[in-house]
Amino acid sequence: VGASAASSRRDLGAAMAGDPHCELRKGARNLVLSGGNPAARLMIVGGAPGRDEDIEGRPFVGRAGQLLDRMLAAIAMARTAPDAEASVYITNILKSRPPNNRDPLPAEVEAHIPILYKQIELVRPKLILAVGKSAGNGLLGRTSSLASLRGKFQDYYGLQLLVTYHPAALLRNPQWKRPTWEDVKLLRTRSDQPVGARVAPPDPHG
Ligand code: URA
Ligand code: URA
Repeated sequence: VGASAASSRRDLGAAMAGDPHCELRKGARNLVLSGGNPAARLMIVGGAPGRDEDIEGRPFVGRAGQLLDRMLAAIAMARTAPDAEASVYITNILKSRPPNNRDPLPAEVEAHIPILYKQIELVRPKLILAVGKSAGNGLLGRTSSLASLRGKFQDYYGLQLLVTYHPAALLRNPQWKRPTWEDVKLLRTRSDQPVGARVAPPDPHG
């Protein structure tokens, strides 16, 4: 991680710290901005940090995160991999933990998503994997079922977006492991293919 990634991280932190409207911050211990490799071609987006993430200030470090790491290892990817092709960058739509891990409210998504757009601009991933209903719907601005969101890549402002089940949901519902594995294999196949020109991420003020 070079100086530019470090200063981008500071910029993001400053942007969040300067937000006087963030009610969530009052109940949370830490901002959870990102993990993994900022040079990665794949960005993974979750819904919101949970308890373990709030304590450590890092995304996907609890049980769900450990399962996510195993799923990535199965397709030879890891957040710690040094090269762009094998590594991942991880973040959430919300950068702080909602009380009692409740689902993000639409107003919270609206308040936090410009930070995600900024991260997309800085990292310039080719592929985005959204895990869970909150992340998928939050990115796409929809209110769809996970079953209807998953299973295919969709265009997301010129990036390739795939939605799949949340690893925490898999821990409770093992019957979703099989479709998730299909999605993960699709991700591997797509990440092995060259991807065309990318366009700028959405303008949060536009
Ligand atoms: N679940 C998420 O969506 N994000 C995390 O960082 C941890 C659990
Ligand atoms: N419902 C959710 O909220 N998340 C999933 O991943 C699947 C179903």
